[in-house]
Amino acid sequence: MQEKFYITTAISYPNGKPHIGHAYEAIAADAIARFHRLSGKDVRFQTGTDEHGLKMVQTARDKGVDVRDLCREMSDQFQAMCDTLNISYDNFQRTTDPMHHTASQAIWQAMAANGDLELGRYEGWYSVRDEAFYEEKELTLGEGGVKLSPQGTPVEWTVEENWRFKLSRYQEPLLKLYAEHPEFIQPDSRRNEVINFVKGGLQDLSVSRTSFDWGVKVPGSEGHVMYVWVDALTNYLTGLGYPDMDGDMAKYWPADLHLIGKDIVRFHAVYWPAFLMSAGLPLPKQVFGHGFLLARGGEKMSKSLGNVVDPIALAEQFGVDNLRYFLLREVSFGQDGSYSPEAIVTRCNAELANSFGNLAQRVLSMIAKNLDGELPELVTPPNGSADWELMTSISTDVHQTIIDFELLSFQGGMNEWIRAVYNCNQYIDSQAPWALRKTDPTRMQQVLGHLVAAIHLLAITIQPIIPTAAGELLDQLGIPRPPENTPEWLHHRGYEALNRTDWYEELRASGHRIAPPTPIFPRLDMPVDEPA
Ligand code: MSP
Repeated sequence: MQEKFYITTAISYPNGKPHIGHAYEAIAADAIARFHRLSGKDVRFQTGTDEHGLKMVQTARDKGVDVRDLCREMSDQFQAMCDTLNISYDNFQRTTDPMHHTASQAIWQAMAANGDLELGRYEGWYSVRDEAFYEEKELTLGEGGVKLSPQGTPVEWTVEENWRFKLSRYQEPLLKLYAEHPEFIQPDSRRNEVINFVKGGLQDLSVSRTSFDWGVKVPGSEGHVMYVWVDALTNYLTGLGYPDMDGDMAKYWPADLHLIGKDIVRFHAVYWPAFLMSAGLPLPKQVFGHGFLLARGGEKMSKSLGNVVDPIALAEQFGVDNLRYFLLREVSFGQDGSYSPEAIVTRCNAELANSFGNLAQRVLSMIAKNLDGELPELVTPPNGSADWELMTSISTDVHQTIIDFELLSFQGGMNEWIRAVYNCNQYIDSQAPWALRKTDPTRMQQVLGHLVAAIHLLAITIQPIIPTAAGELLDQLGIPRPPENTPEWLHHRGYEALNRTDWYEELRASGHRIAPPTPIFPRLDMPVDEPA
């Protein structure tokens, strides 16, 4: 049976426009989803918006608009961002969707049936910005003696009658989960933080609010809406049709990967598994907390600092694939990283335009010009030492790239990939097929044949990162775009390229002719500093 892979991003608060941090998470999740599709899995990919909570109410009030209208307008912007960035989501889940209310009430009832919810009085610290409750001991003092959450956001004293979830009951089961499944929280550094937090003792959690009504109604409890994180986390189930346990729930749950930022690991690695245990549902396999993308100079992005970067403007300026390539290449996944327009231009010009693009351009135009666009024969196994060296290094690098991508090490994988590209460029320079055209046309064909085989592998391997450009290159070569030419290629084709020619023969037999290529990776111009 086809293996499944269910991946989700966090659902964003649409109280402001999407920024580059949201784009980063969506791009990373998309690359992972595409990678798993490429390896033949039945992938389900969900993203969406988190539209309840006090923050949305306050933003709507400040803007003087109806909260529903704000949600619709802003959620559309998040969805448009995903579409612009070529994010291949299967479901964009909004929490204002009636299906989501049904799912949230169902998980609530399951937790209640397990005896984990009780009515009580809550007094404590609440951060509207984080939509989170904090303990006194977690707070720090900011300027002017203002109390701040661990995320640096202001907290306010809240007194309310509300429902409480018996989180304290789950301390031991959670610690057991982390011990038995070290892969549950990744990267490791985040796991240690969570373990320390849980070992420090878990307080019961306030899970309903009565001071406003913008949320999912608590079943059978007039005047209470659910604490926004209870319904937000449930989005991962809503999208699969929960509480119907057949259909997509049976097919895709539990999630294989919840991809989120480091600031919300606690909600996903502590509260969420506790809610699921309480409701008797299987637990996700992994929560990965990626790092933060920082503005120029390593500053945190914030509206008040005025350094929030609009991902759509960046995509328009540099191109979607360039932006995707840069973000995954530049930042070690899991760590924080920073971005600047100059760095995007330098990186993309060096690696995409001047190296991969130039390689493809040179090889394809030579075939178009000298062989009437017909693919040359591929000699396997490679017979000369240079050919052998090229093909072994390419297949080893591609194989390593695949292993790295599987482990979410984009930077490492792309490092191997670009090394393979450099090797091809060295090979083409040392073999000089343009000179062979007159002296030894058969040899020229052999050289071009190896290069086509190499470019084919390189294009498919990088396709999850730069799907449009890689797809165009495959089209120019006449190679069906993935996933049509998968599912097994990932594991075998790198090595098969050395010894087998059947896939290549098929390509030749298709009669595809390579037309004079149009460049796929145009050079970017260095941005000119705008006067401040
Ligand atoms: N609504 C909650 C998530 C609920 S998930 C059930 C939320 N929303 S958010 O809009 O604040 O953040 C959405 C995602 O973007 C989170 O994973 C967050 O960590 C991530 N990022 C927000 N700013 C970021 C950067 N500057 N850099 C990278 N990711 C960042 O939290």
